[in-house]
Amino acid sequence: MAQSLKIGDVEIAGRALIAPMTGVSDLPFRRMASKLGAAYAATEMVACAELERGRPDVVRKFALGEHAGLKIVQLIGKDPDFIARGAALAEASGAHIVDLNFGCPAKEVTGVLCGSALMRDFDAASRLMEAAVSATSRPVTVKMRMGWDDGSRNAPELARCAEAIGIKAVTVHGRTRQQFYKGKADWAFVRQVKAAVSIPVIVNGDITDGQRAREALGQSGADGLMIGRGVYGRPWLAAHLDSHLRGVESREPSGHARYELIVEHLQDSLSFYGRELGLKMFKKHLGWYIEAGDYCDDPVARRQDKARLCRLDDDTHIERELNALFC
Ligand SMILES: Cc1cc2nc3c(=O)[nH]c(=O)nc-3n(C[C@H](O)[C@H](O)[C@H](O)COP(=O)(O)O)c2cc1C
Repeated sequence: MAQSLKIGDVEIAGRALIAPMTGVSDLPFRRMASKLGAAYAATEMVACAELERGRPDVVRKFALGEHAGLKIVQLIGKDPDFIARGAALAEASGAHIVDLNFGCPAKEVTGVLCGSALMRDFDAASRLMEAAVSATSRPVTVKMRMGWDDGSRNAPELARCAEAIGIKAVTVHGRTRQQFYKGKADWAFVRQVKAAVSIPVIVNGDITDGQRAREALGQSGADGLMIGRGVYGRPWLAAHLDSHLRGVESREPSGHARYELIVEHLQDSLSFYGRELGLKMFKKHLGWYIEAGDYCDDPVARRQDKARLCRLDDDTHIERELNALFC
């Protein structure tokens, strides 16, 4: 089994990729994940129209910053000109890969013919893919769902269309748009996408540990896998899964090492966003670090710790409390 992945001209040094996740995969998170060995961690989706208007939160989502890992920008939009300019700007800003979002199920998004609504309109989807491919020399990829609903699981056809346009890889979340995040991801369905194209196919949905990673790859025949919610409070997970897939023993960070990486993530958040916003943005991660904490087995006690620490408004207090919990 291959241990790495090539997307266009970009070598990815592993097969466990970190998904774009709005409100999660900001620059401080991606920097931490890369530092811990993630081969690939994508930005949150960046709305191209809002990027053009310079909306500050969208500009921040687009920030690629400095870190060791690959830089992958995910774009979303319905206007091919905006997508083209977003793709060109991503390349100029140092992106290695440009990903297009054809999977977001949110009503505000699909209602304006963006995200997974594009799975119902191949013409519109094709125009966006063509615009991106002709605007950048970087590989362009697409992240999609199985289809809009059970009656239209058309990811294999969309993937074929994408390949013909010059898309270099597709990721398939094994749910339909109508499922949102309910039910179980259907990894076996992704095999049909794999059979339809010769570009790399990445399987996504409900992959949270080594066993599921193996099962997802086995059932789908995919070239790589993508993890989303499993990284909550575990930015090392991609590297951990890659080791597992290579058959190399790997331990999740624990004790003082875990405390140190949480504090580094906190401090990076403060310097990236500024103190007030940085603390607010970090608290989501803080909650997850505590929920996923290996310092105690009692989930009720962890929930109480989470509530207590997330009420604190000072980073030195948070660090002190974290030290008491983890070290
Ligand atoms: C909070 C949250 C934010 C997400 N944001 C994005 C996004 O910006 N772009 C995208 O393509 N998918 C987004 N997704 C979907 C994930 O990338 C992924 O496809 C989905 O969560 C299934 O994978 P999982 O079961 O490993 O979480 C988001 C999911 C969650 C839970």
